[in-house]
Amino acid sequence: MNSKKLDSAIEKVLKEERKSDERNVRKAVAPQQRDFPYERDGEAQVTRREFCNFLAITSTGLFLSAGAFATKAIYDASNAESLPATMIENSIDLKKGEALNFRYPTEADPAILVHTKDGGFHAYGQKCTHLACPVYFEKKNERLECPCHEGGFDVRTGNVLYGPPPRPLDKIQIEVRENGEVWAIGMTAGGQDHG
Ligand code: FES
Repeated sequence: MNSKKLDSAIEKVLKEERKSDERNVRKAVAPQQRDFPYERDGEAQVTRREFCNFLAITSTGLFLSAGAFATKAIYDASNAESLPATMIENSIDLKKGEALNFRYPTEADPAILVHTKDGGFHAYGQKCTHLACPVYFEKKNERLECPCHEGGFDVRTGNVLYGPPPRPLDKIQIEVRENGEVWAIGMTAGGQDHG
């Protein structure tokens, strides 16, 4: 899957369901998993040569695009002060234990807001730091998970819990206003300000 297709898969998820939902995310990114399999348990079954050939033929463009995206995201996120404060639509109605998709800092940047059971709010760029699949909120264990290659992130810090992602999710700074609205007020590249 090239980056254009992946972007349209993410677009589809966000259009079909504003609330983050595992089934929708998994369905939308299924082609990505087929085109670029990464099975931790099955790694030994793919020889080094096969893997290199596969990468050379199908994934050069994807890596370049993902690299460009990561560079741009880090650059953009580093300029946190210049980002606009934006009210997250429908955040006032977000119940504990649920998540909501929104876009920040621009309409081209998918993001996810989670209201954890302890009453906290946490927001991140929705693109996984491995190959940019959209993460979803796994309610039972309160984790952010990536269905493409089974990456997992801590919902309260954005830190990587397991899987191939090389760095934490990009973190969106938020502000909960007196009337209950949640506003996005800045963004930090994953790994620069986590803990
Ligand atoms: S895109 Fe590979 S783990 Fe998320």
